[in-house]
Amino acid sequence: MSVGIDEISFYTSSYYFDLRTLAEIQETDPDKYYVGIGQEKMGMAAPDEDIVTMAANAALPLIENAGSDAVGTLLFATETGIDQSKAAGVYVHRLLGLGANCRVVELKQACYSATAALQMACALVARQPQRKVLVIASDVARYDLNTPGEATQGCGAVAMMISANPRLVSIDPEVGNYTEDVMDFWRPNYRTTALVDGKYSTKIYLKSLKKAWENFSEVSPLSFGDLSRFCYHLPFSRMAQKAHQHLVKMNKVVMTPEQVEEQIEPTLSYNRIIGNSYTASMYIGLCSLLETCQDNLADQRIGFFSYGSGSVAEFYSGRVVPGYEQHLHTAKHREMLDNRQSLSYDEYLNLYRYPNPTDGGEHELPHVTPGRFRLAAITHHKREYVTC
Ligand code: CAA
Repeated sequence: MSVGIDEISFYTSSYYFDLRTLAEIQETDPDKYYVGIGQEKMGMAAPDEDIVTMAANAALPLIENAGSDAVGTLLFATETGIDQSKAAGVYVHRLLGLGANCRVVELKQACYSATAALQMACALVARQPQRKVLVIASDVARYDLNTPGEATQGCGAVAMMISANPRLVSIDPEVGNYTEDVMDFWRPNYRTTALVDGKYSTKIYLKSLKKAWENFSEVSPLSFGDLSRFCYHLPFSRMAQKAHQHLVKMNKVVMTPEQVEEQIEPTLSYNRIIGNSYTASMYIGLCSLLETCQDNLADQRIGFFSYGSGSVAEFYSGRVVPGYEQHLHTAKHREMLDNRQSLSYDEYLNLYRYPNPTDGGEHELPHVTPGRFRLAAITHHKREYVTC
């Protein structure tokens, strides 16, 4: 029996800020962003959107297809949680009408935790094949204004149904891991924006790739040449290009720059215009690969490199299932991305600075998002989510 991703869907805000506008304000060459970090736009969450509303919007098509009773467990990965105690997935559980016997838990380890959730989901399904596991990763990436990280913000959620005999990607059991206690990117509980040692974080990312790959090579029967495409964690698109060049060099493979590029380029299309979505980013990259790649990927093996600052990394592989193209949500995703609205610099600042009420009063939030789910109010410290 194979286990893996049966269906995948993502969601992002309907607002974006173009990095050309940021470059104009900063009097910088826009190519620093468009070429240098490989990013064009970044998604900005509306006042009535957060990790819960994006997660429910991402997962809704999967529940409509599989039925709410099919899900035995909901694993919610995030590093921008909205509560120190209650799992964000419990709100999603209600919004999606999941059964009372479905367990829900939240997982955290920076951008890596969606991969931990995926692996745990595969193990649960292997034990109880008749129960599916819904894995959701959802984040709003925020850095301080006027810092190098500002251009690498974004927001998004991805939902994956993990099942026996999956229709999209079967996940191989072998994994390579690497963990090291470092301070490259972190967010103390009292801060709403992340702190980062930018250049150091890129170095640790590449070191972790090397170490996780070495561990994967020890346990997997596959070698570099068996993998035809690669999905990397995507803090910004250029990071994946650098990582892949690093992996090719490490393996002493002779390839043209075009061949190297071809192995990752289709994974980057969505990320370039959504920005960093932390836990969700690699899996939105997988969506991008499956939905935009011109070649038929049936039976091809994909390498995955998941990285979470702090740091935990994992390299694993999966095989694309023949017929996968019939089970994608490509048109819906394209329509969502095509219908987003561009923000002026002032509108971007207004969203960035939108107050997060902490006084325990009654705060209704303006109805802005066109999404199916929204955060309608925060009343006496309680978040009130509604279906529109
Ligand atoms: N045309 C073309 N390219 C240009 C250019 C121009 N006009 N101007 C600059 N560039 C290039 C630079 O040469 C550089 O390329 P290389 O990296 O190949 O040398 C690139 O654009 C970036 O320029 P800088 O190095 O000057 O950029 P910066 O110092 O302002 O910021 C950054 C870069 C450190 C990555 C910053 O964006 C940052 O701190 N980001 C947040 C941290 C991050 O994403 N880290 C990634 C690893 S950690 C992780 O993965 C977890 C996570 O999700 C955060």
